Amino acid sequence: MTPVSPPPPAPAPAPAPQGSDPSGGEDTDGGPPPRVYQTWKGSNYKSLEYWQLEDQSPLARRRHRSSVFTLKEMEEATNSFSDDNLLGKGGFGKVYRGTLPSGEVVAIKKMELPSFKSAEGEREREFRVEVDILSRLDHPNLVALIGYCADGKHRFLVYEFMHYGNLEDHLNGISEVKMNWPQRLKVALGAARGLDYLHSGFAVGIPIVHRDFKSTNILLSATFEAKISDFGLAKMMPEGQEMYVTTKVLGTFGYFDPEYTSTGKLTLQSDVYAFGVVLLELLTGRRALDLHQGPTDQNLVLQVKNILNDRKKLRKVIDPEMSRSSYNMESITKFANLASRCVRTESSERPTMVECVKELQLVIFINKKESGMGMHTLSRTV
Ligand SMILES: Nc1ncnc2c1ncn2[C@@H]1O[C@H](COP(=O)(O)OP(=O)(O)OP(=O)(O)O)[C@@H](O)[C@H]1O
Ligand SMILES: [Mg+2]
Repeated sequence: MTPVSPPPPAPAPAPAPQGSDPSGGEDTDGGPPPRVYQTWKGSNYKSLEYWQLEDQSPLARRRHRSSVFTLKEMEEATNSFSDDNLLGKGGFGKVYRGTLPSGEVVAIKKMELPSFKSAEGEREREFRVEVDILSRLDHPNLVALIGYCADGKHRFLVYEFMHYGNLEDHLNGISEVKMNWPQRLKVALGAARGLDYLHSGFAVGIPIVHRDFKSTNILLSATFEAKISDFGLAKMMPEGQEMYVTTKVLGTFGYFDPEYTSTGKLTLQSDVYAFGVVLLELLTGRRALDLHQGPTDQNLVLQVKNILNDRKKLRKVIDPEMSRSSYNMESITKFANLASRCVRTESSERPTMVECVKELQLVIFINKKESGMGMHTLSRTV
């Protein structure tokens, strides 16, 4: 394992690593000219020395350093990728539980080679954006990147291990643990803080749009602290611009900002829309997109949008799995009202993430005040 030493402080914002484009600049219509990745021996895969992080701004320096691992170390950590260690599978590949020689338990994401050679460049770009961006971020509500492996064509991302996996599994009954209302509010507030940190530009000097915010990308720690993961589609906003125009719409169905899909305009408010969808999942326990429903009921936003500000009808969509004694209607009403504004079609009518954080703090206060249910109760009731 080779630690990547942080270089001496450089002026912010941090320049991109050599030959890479951490802005996620695959689609540059209206933006700066595209950067072409240097290739290694004519392939899409560059050797490590070409793109290791070279510099980070003082703001971007992290408490922990990212490490570089070899393939052998990845095999040893996961017992040769045994099924016993399999945690899940996503679009990027399988995720394994691993143990480092220090005894630290981690999650190791193994990049699958795409079936089409033409998609290799895109996959490699996603990997590098994830490493480049996540290595510069440091926030309690963002999953920490412990290191990575780029050995020949093999690619791995090594993250801090998140005990309770992803939020969607908890809301859809895969987990035995039923989350009560204060617990869901804690998750909503944590995720809001993580997004606010990205949007604030505090990390790298310019705002970052996550672009793939969704309940499977919200991971839960042993204390049910929410941490945002998966930065492969993240986009650094061009300096001084509030919008980025693209012809290539990336993200996940069910969470797409309608303005982004219809015009190609990506803004920070695109994440706010996706955040609103997650709020609706927390409230209703339903999936953002459920293809088992009839054609008019598949999309959660379309299902509930019109009743979010109708107190009587609202009761009917509250997740029946949620303990009734854990919430009061006042907090539910305020929460639903916030969600309804986040998923407005016009992006300019949506709140900012700072506003979402403040409103959620108020919702938590209201729920504690009326039901007398403090956060201390959580560990016993969840
Ligand atoms: N750091 C982690 N700690 C524990 N489990 C994790 C961690 N990262 C991922 N997982 C588990 O692995 C699963 C697969 O993750 P992955 O991010 O590859 O896919 P996804 O989020 O479900 O879908 P997508 O590829 O669209 O993002 C997750 O749903 C989660 O349960
Ligand atoms: Mg994911």
